[in-house]
Amino acid sequence: MNISPFKASIAQIAEQIQPFHVMKILGEAKALEAAGKKIIHMEIGEPDFPSLPCVHEAAMHAAALGLTHYTPTMGLPALRDKLSHFYQHFYSADVAADNIMITPGSSSALHLVLTAILNPGDKVLLSDPAYPCNRQFVKLLQGKIIGIPVGCETQYQLNSELLKTHWQPGIKAVMVASPANPTGTIIEQAELLSMANFLAEKNCYFIVDEIYQGLIYERPAESILAHKNLPNNVIVINSFSKYFGMTGWRLGWCIAPDALMPVLERLGQNLFLAASTPSQYGALRVLETDALDNLELRRQMFEARRNTLYHSMRDAGFRLKVLPQGAFYLYWDISDFTDNADQFCFDLLRDTGVAITPGRDFGDYQANQHVRLAYTTTEAELVLAVQKMAQFIKDINPSK
Ligand SMILES: Cc1ncc(COP(=O)(O)O)c(C=O)c1O
Repeated sequence: MNISPFKASIAQIAEQIQPFHVMKILGEAKALEAAGKKIIHMEIGEPDFPSLPCVHEAAMHAAALGLTHYTPTMGLPALRDKLSHFYQHFYSADVAADNIMITPGSSSALHLVLTAILNPGDKVLLSDPAYPCNRQFVKLLQGKIIGIPVGCETQYQLNSELLKTHWQPGIKAVMVASPANPTGTIIEQAELLSMANFLAEKNCYFIVDEIYQGLIYERPAESILAHKNLPNNVIVINSFSKYFGMTGWRLGWCIAPDALMPVLERLGQNLFLAASTPSQYGALRVLETDALDNLELRRQMFEARRNTLYHSMRDAGFRLKVLPQGAFYLYWDISDFTDNADQFCFDLLRDTGVAITPGRDFGDYQANQHVRLAYTTTEAELVLAVQKMAQFIKDINPSK
């Protein structure tokens, strides 16, 4: 019997933090799998490939040499230098190593950057739908979220017209991702520049999440930092998680203007001291040419999967409003079949074993009519998943 008088209490702000609903789907999928049901996993946003063997070897080698102590808070100097060269080669962008900070995943980079710039009450403008955690970070910092509904007319992305239309005093930062989660769509380089310029005039930061850059199809990878005449309100977020296939290594980075680097360093010293040392040695290795060649092969596989999934779904008569240009997501309008995406996802999972994510995780706008599919499984499984979804829809809605 518990006789302690202690009553657990939770901070008001922490109470307001939303769960990641996809984890519920994942939990259910795992439980069904454990009970012997075959599951096709298209719910979780991470590459199905393991990280490259050369990364494992480099990290283990570093650990065997005793390189297991803290690195400087800003990251291993060699890794910051190497990333600076990577920007030059990969994106034709001049990025000084001094402006790069290595972080435990880009999640930390996002948290750190917002902590560095937001005062309570400051507004942050985001698209709806968008990557869910950003809204929670802003809440934690007592900022105010302005969600702008975006649809297929703008490729589910913000643009400078929308910024002008929705502009209001008190906006401290605008956040975008290109390619985006959950839609896989991008913002063109010229548009990014005009957004950055508009926001600089308004004295507003522009946070551009490029975590899915590299995973881009039918066009070269691009960074906003390739613009030579970029205003200094731009902050870029990136990670070793997606393109580099290193989700579990928890390593990311941000690139920020000079004025922010000292405060980012102070915050990093307090919030995490440094990113994982073996991971940083692994990351040094993944930036070598032979590893990048392997990642290019993986990118081609993702492109083939995107094409297979997109065309199989179109052939099945499903309504896909845009062809995603990057990442590994496809955003599907299911309003022909339901107005309850959560129920649809759970029923689909239980009936067919196909696990996908309801729109609710990504915002409010038409969230109940959309789902996200991650093509992080083989082409054969993707084709099978589409067959199962088509049958499921016929069963629940014989007129379709
Ligand atoms: C758009 C976007 N940004 C940031 C993250 C965070 O990734 P990580 O912390 O693994 O770098 C994710 C993860 O899914 C994402 O989709």
